[in-house]
Amino acid sequence: MKRSSVKKALLIAAALTVTGTASAAGKLEIFSWWSGDEGPALEALVKLYKQKYPSVTVDNATVSGGAGTNAKAVLKTRMLGGTPPDSFQVHAGQELIGTWVVANRMEDLSSLFKSEGWNKVFPQDVITLLSAKGGIWSVPVNVHRSNVMWYNPAKLKAWGVTAPKTWAEFLTTCNTLKAKGVAAPLVVGENWTQQHLWESVMIGTLGPQGWQNLWSGKTKFTDPKVVQGFTTFGKVMDCANKDASGLSWQQASDRIADGTSAFNIMGDWAAGYFTTTKKLQPNAGFGWAASPGTNGTFVMLADSFGLPKGAKDRAESLNWLRLLGSKQGQDAFNPLKGSIAARTDSDLSKYNTYSRSAAADWKRNKIVGSMVHGAVAPESFTSAFGAIIDQFVASKNAQGAAAAAQQLATRAGIGQ
Ligand code: GAL
Repeated sequence: MKRSSVKKALLIAAALTVTGTASAAGKLEIFSWWSGDEGPALEALVKLYKQKYPSVTVDNATVSGGAGTNAKAVLKTRMLGGTPPDSFQVHAGQELIGTWVVANRMEDLSSLFKSEGWNKVFPQDVITLLSAKGGIWSVPVNVHRSNVMWYNPAKLKAWGVTAPKTWAEFLTTCNTLKAKGVAAPLVVGENWTQQHLWESVMIGTLGPQGWQNLWSGKTKFTDPKVVQGFTTFGKVMDCANKDASGLSWQQASDRIADGTSAFNIMGDWAAGYFTTTKKLQPNAGFGWAASPGTNGTFVMLADSFGLPKGAKDRAESLNWLRLLGSKQGQDAFNPLKGSIAARTDSDLSKYNTYSRSAAADWKRNKIVGSMVHGAVAPESFTSAFGAIIDQFVASKNAQGAAAAAQQLATRAGIGQ
């Protein structure tokens, strides 16, 4: 090749790297667990992508199962087998960093952040969660809140109770409701939703700083306060339905909407489900409060998408990430999803009353990260913690569960 042609080729290659210009008739495979009831927000983004890049065929690959329990296993097989999707859903924080970044499987997106001006529009705390080893490793599409208690306002009124503000109050309300014939004042679903509840009980017991100390290793799981948190969690579980293990989070939410149970602790994807799927109005069809003991604390998690090394359709994937991070993309996705935009400049007039209240809390609350949804603990901890919860729910042995959790934390390198 002549020197000038080499230069030209290099320039084109460089342009592709920076702009990620898509080829004429490209393909894009994205991978997530947002299927069925969880699908509409993602589908709105895919629609926008297709409008912008009509010649690209989008394969919206999903593996259903709340919190990604099934999808993460399939992703692992694909990543390790050398056939990564072009872009995949991953939680900001340890789920991303402790897994795919340490294994050197992701592309650094720092230059994309720079060229899109994202360092200025995403909150520094969120960027920190996506950063390690001098790079930024994924693009956040939202911020979800995990510590929310959902209820049916008309039913609470009929039962003559209000949303409890502490776990002690919750247990009293639980007895009141049982006396009124409500068999299961609390509804929970399959294992991960119980871990989700555990997280809210623990933060309500330890407070936000105490929770952070657990993940920095400053507080051990064997600490009496943590043991107390397990004991409270056990009592709270005594207020729950007995068919939990067979229930998805959506089915648990249904029992709030139809008034079978009074309370459910779930992330605010439940708001997306209530409004987008069930067409319910905030404050009418469903109500909400911070989970007991966590008023003033926002337990956050962020869904993000990254670019794995070896992605077949890299340019198309970069365009996907650009859309995800854009104001237009975030304001199309989040009003349907129940989350708020990760960007600080989103147009709140597009969001409902619930989301606006979450956006206000996001600004004024103390922010801590969720364990169950990948922010604060490595995947090695999170994926094994479910067995501890199962065992605890069966035995109610708080000391034993706390000791087992500490062993797991040590093995996962927490606090080291
Ligand atoms: C979370 C995820 C949410 C929602 C939820 C239920 O882990 O961050 O976006 O999908 O699981 O599946």
